[in-house]
Amino acid sequence: MAGYRYPRFFAHRGGGCLAPENTLAGIRLAARLGYRGVEFDVMLCRDGVPVLIHDETLERTSDGAGLVSQTALLELRSLDAGGKMHRAYAGEIIPTLEEALACCSNLGLTANAEIKPATGFAKETGNAVGDMVARAEPGTLLLSSFSEEALAAARACSPASPRALLFEAIPADWRERLQALDCLALHCSQRHLTAELAADLATAGIPFACYTVNSRKDAARLFGLGAAALFTDRLDLFAPEESHVA
Ligand code: G3P
Ligand code: MG
Repeated sequence: MAGYRYPRFFAHRGGGCLAPENTLAGIRLAARLGYRGVEFDVMLCRDGVPVLIHDETLERTSDGAGLVSQTALLELRSLDAGGKMHRAYAGEIIPTLEEALACCSNLGLTANAEIKPATGFAKETGNAVGDMVARAEPGTLLLSSFSEEALAAARACSPASPRALLFEAIPADWRERLQALDCLALHCSQRHLTAELAADLATAGIPFACYTVNSRKDAARLFGLGAAALFTDRLDLFAPEESHVA
């Protein structure tokens, strides 16, 4: 796990604000714009298959309705996950994690799979993601989650996959919590990253990455504080040449 190298920028939810979130179209667009890393969210559908979606419900990002965890894969696959964002993307489907990893691998992208379990499914989601990444095509992959239970389950299934623990605000016991899961890095909301915390992380030798950074001013502040990487929606703002590996 040592020696993991972050791209400077991850396209947040696949293609950021330029493509429907958590779709292959978004991932492909990020690659086309020169991004070297993409972040996406992973949840289980009813059949226990990990798919890319952020919300526990289907309404916001697709033409479906109801809970992802109660929807069969076949039905999920019939939904339009692109048309709500823009009609140019109508017909875009909800990808499986397997498809997203293959896509990233083909495009040479670092994939940050954020394990986003539906309520009550933390362990199952971590297991399924861990199983999948343990047998995925080789590629550069980083697992993360707000759910320590999910990350622990993923670790048990795929101990060699690099892990980052996600926080909105960083808790006082972050060291212990990262150590317990043998995480290489900490991801957090940019809003809660103070200079003091950045200094503590540097002293501990823990790289950190911040979401969701959508202005040059914020990016300059965070890189100035030592951020290894930033997650951005603004693929139109940060130039491809800035997306090099640190
Ligand atoms: O992984 C970083 C970021 O994506 C976490 O927030 O809600 O966009 O998944 P969210
Ligand atoms: Mg996410």
